[in-house]
Amino acid sequence: MVVAKSRTAPVAPRLTMDVVAIAQNTTVLRSLDWDRDRFDIEFGLKNGTTYNSFLICGDKTALIDSSHAKFRAVYLAALQGEIDVAAIDYLIISHTEPDHSGLVADILELNPNIIVVGAKVALQFLDDLVHRPYSKQIVKSGEKLDLGQGHELEFVSAPNLHWPDTIFTFDHKTQILYTCDAFGMHYCDDCTYDEDLDLISEDYFIYYQCLMEPNARSVLSALKRVSSLPEAKQIATGHGPLIKHNLTELVRRYEAWSSNKAKAEKTVAMFYVSDYGQSDNLAKALTQGIAKTGVVVETMDLRVSEMSEVRVLAELASGIIIGTPPQSLKTTVQAALSTVLAVAGKKQIFGLFEAGGGEDEPLPPIRSTLSESGLKEAFPPIQITEAVTAATFQLCDESGTDLGQLLTKDKAIQKMKSLDGDLDKALGRLSGGLYIITAQKGEASSAMLASWVSQASLSPLGITIAVAKDRAIESFMHVGDRFVLNILEEGNYQHLMRHFLKRFKPGQDRFEGIDTQPAENGAPILTEALSYLECQVVTRLEGDDHWIVYSTVDNGRVSDVDGLTAVHHRKVGNHY
Ligand code: FEO
Repeated sequence: MVVAKSRTAPVAPRLTMDVVAIAQNTTVLRSLDWDRDRFDIEFGLKNGTTYNSFLICGDKTALIDSSHAKFRAVYLAALQGEIDVAAIDYLIISHTEPDHSGLVADILELNPNIIVVGAKVALQFLDDLVHRPYSKQIVKSGEKLDLGQGHELEFVSAPNLHWPDTIFTFDHKTQILYTCDAFGMHYCDDCTYDEDLDLISEDYFIYYQCLMEPNARSVLSALKRVSSLPEAKQIATGHGPLIKHNLTELVRRYEAWSSNKAKAEKTVAMFYVSDYGQSDNLAKALTQGIAKTGVVVETMDLRVSEMSEVRVLAELASGIIIGTPPQSLKTTVQAALSTVLAVAGKKQIFGLFEAGGGEDEPLPPIRSTLSESGLKEAFPPIQITEAVTAATFQLCDESGTDLGQLLTKDKAIQKMKSLDGDLDKALGRLSGGLYIITAQKGEASSAMLASWVSQASLSPLGITIAVAKDRAIESFMHVGDRFVLNILEEGNYQHLMRHFLKRFKPGQDRFEGIDTQPAENGAPILTEALSYLECQVVTRLEGDDHWIVYSTVDNGRVSDVDGLTAVHHRKVGNHY
């Protein structure tokens, strides 16, 4: 039986502005992107997002960040409503991703004399973004900019939160700390501030997990640097509500989450050169895949890192990933790259990636050097010459997971052996059905044999599925994602079970040789399944080693009303 569900007709995305005074001489311009449902390729949004920009007016004036280009008309009108743009003295760039710097070229057009302030590497990136000469002021951690009337701005370097060029800005007059992406959340509503902690907690955590957790050590370093400043009264983030009411608690959470991650036994060092493009996308996808296994990834930009930091990280890491730098930067990064290669030793494993193709440092010599030093290669080198697609992302994500699993294999075996014999057998008497979860995102698809599935609600119809954190399908089961649950039939499941239990190579097609047809939500339905359910992920509860994924069921069909569901009988409860 097919249960039809009404669908809402598409409407134009709502883009509105909210301009609010947040302190003396200080205004926030919030660009409210109510309907944005995805951020980057991997990050589904439930509650839209905001891009926050700030205007500080002392004797001189400074604008901190701008907005996304899609807000061009409304943002510039709102800004002009506050100040003559041509009269602004400084434009501070917290970092150069287009959601905050998408209108820098427009501001330069309106005010060619504005002085753009940022970290060295941020201004290098900006050169490529605006393609025109402009006045610039490079700032380092601890340096100050005096706007007059007490508004002395102090800069704090916060590399890798979440890009190498990030700086925080602290206004000594208002004691507001401007942090761009850090402490942000993708949450769009009318409240300027974090009034309801419960309401924002989930989005705050998901955001931390996606953007900050892969650089947990960098979060702790930034917190340490900030701790030498006077206590902040507000944290003015680049996304979502500003933080005032729950400042201590929300900062404490960053510290606790990051400390927890930094204690991880295994770390992977990722050395590459950020290009605000393909290399970053590949690095992010690899990081996401590794993080699924509980291994911490520490990212270092070969161009801007201190040599001593490169050495320390390369030594402490259990795994090393190198993104080969472009030929044009060969001399700049040579010393850092040589340090990594010299320090790398046989107890480590490695992986390589290269974006951009022809121009890059040839990958084979690096591969040979590491192999000759006795390092084991965790995944075949990834070389991408085209734009990054969902399939590329999947390849990197799964390569990262393979590397992480190699590092955690011994611990997983140890854990399996440590359960008490009786408990183990008693738990094994829990039974489940046999199911194949299938999902499709663009040209990327995935599938997994599942058994820990249960109906969880009647209205709306809903189910839970426990998914191990290091499963490839996990990337397809984030909030808002759609998938199909194929229910296998008793007496007709062995070949499907065998097929989907195989270990697939990163990016390998899971459906080769399997008959499928597309569901309404785009995921493959297995033709031989007894029935199928089209589902959408609503929420996820985090366990130690599994996500409990709650999804609503939108549609379904059974091929044989008399067919029985295949049952999974186990003898022990400490593995599948
Ligand atoms: Fe919100 Fe990294 O841009």
